[in-house]
Amino acid sequence: MKPAISPTPAAMPRVGELLDVTVTDWGDQGRGIARHGNLVVLTNRGLPGETVRVRVTRRRRRHLEADLESVLVPSPHRVAAPCRHFGACGGCRLQDLDYPEQLAGKVRHLRDQVQRIGRIEQIPEIEVVPCDSPYRYRNKMEFSFGLGRDGAPTLGLHPRDNYRDSFDLEECWLTDERAVEIVAAVRSFLASGPEAVYDPVAHAGFLRFLVVRFGFRTGDVLVNLVTADVPWPRSEEFATHLQGSCPYVTTALWTVNATRANVAIGPVREVFFGPGTLRERLGPWEFEIAAGGFFQTNTLQAERLFERVVGWTCPTPTPVLDLYSGAGAISLCLSPRASHVTGVESHHDSVESARRNAERNRIANCEFVCADTLQFLKEQSLDRWRRGAVIVDPPRAGLHPKVVKILGETGPDRIVYVSCNTAAFARDLEMLGGRYRLTRLAAVDMFPHTPHIESAALLERDSIPSSGVTP
Ligand SMILES: C[S@@+](CC[C@H](N)C(=O)[O-])C[C@H]1O[C@@H](n2cnc3c(N)ncnc32)[C@H](O)[C@@H]1O
Repeated sequence: MKPAISPTPAAMPRVGELLDVTVTDWGDQGRGIARHGNLVVLTNRGLPGETVRVRVTRRRRRHLEADLESVLVPSPHRVAAPCRHFGACGGCRLQDLDYPEQLAGKVRHLRDQVQRIGRIEQIPEIEVVPCDSPYRYRNKMEFSFGLGRDGAPTLGLHPRDNYRDSFDLEECWLTDERAVEIVAAVRSFLASGPEAVYDPVAHAGFLRFLVVRFGFRTGDVLVNLVTADVPWPRSEEFATHLQGSCPYVTTALWTVNATRANVAIGPVREVFFGPGTLRERLGPWEFEIAAGGFFQTNTLQAERLFERVVGWTCPTPTPVLDLYSGAGAISLCLSPRASHVTGVESHHDSVESARRNAERNRIANCEFVCADTLQFLKEQSLDRWRRGAVIVDPPRAGLHPKVVKILGETGPDRIVYVSCNTAAFARDLEMLGGRYRLTRLAAVDMFPHTPHIESAALLERDSIPSSGVTP
């Protein structure tokens, strides 16, 4: 029997029911946003402007979730997604939307969040920095192990909205094609072995993640197998197999995450071959990156982002405090323009890398402190940087409210805020409102085909509350 299309928009549709809706936008997870009567409908697919037929999969108090059945009226911006995993994969949600329209949507969201959450009515013109090659741009991929129907390990990316499983990866358009070869080599070795996939609910098993990193400018390829803390008699055999199958891998290592946190970091158990680190270049600078250390995942766009950051931070040589400094990428790029840079970073290996990176590039005016940002700011007066600048480039969660408070009360003339999470960025802007004026804003597309965008902002101290910033 044909399922009925709901005739009364006001009635609460049942799970399984078909609805015809018009998608008006996409949300921060890349889901389509539509309306059915007073209800918001979040669709797994469907582009802005499209009329789509969806099947309700979940009823929430304030919204419905639904899966696309068919596109009734397609968007003129719809394109064929090149990847065979598109739709099933959680990685690229926007591959079927043409690139200019992806970018336009991201900039619209940034503007909207800065105005709505940041409560800034008048925002400067957003400088948009598109990615010249929107495929194969990622220098790092994190693959997960899962359990296949036949009981053998799967290795690849997570399916959409499912962080427990993984599907066998056969292609990926976001990164270097060799990533798929490496995944296949690791999978074929493990398919015949006794190693069990780690179960994040039962906290038992062994295989957790496979991280592959590329130095696009250096040719380095790093492979990092992340497991639970279990003895592994076949480790040497694994290394030999990997080296034989993928001779371009320059270093491979084994990292153990003995905690329950579902993350691909932990202490290094063994470096199988090579130095255990990766080298990448940004402009004239060469960086060593620890296997678990942060580095911007889009090398080309990182250079463009940092050009803006350097220009805004140091119009004249002044001292700079680079908070959340990672392996020192921003600090080193700033070194010719700043009188002195102090980087603050809590990940020990990244701090060590940053110090070695300064040495390797013969830079004498950068120092790196291993500390939690809030702790550092509680113990250290910002007087030294008052006439200079502070850079903040926090993780996705944004700044700790107490960090925002300290910066608001005692921060310097300029703050340059780099963010990969627009909502957190806008929230922090709102908390700084009245004390700083937003004078420059750039949207740098680091992550094509995903809903994410990197933003960079220049905030200038305002002794008199500006008309543009709502306190
Ligand atoms: C988005 S990354 C930015 C790194 C660097 N600015 C870059 O562009 O390469 C954020 C960094 O903050 C570090 N981090 C996270 N929490 C921190 C904290 N509470 N205090 C200091 N650093 C922290 C992470 O280890 C990571 O290296």
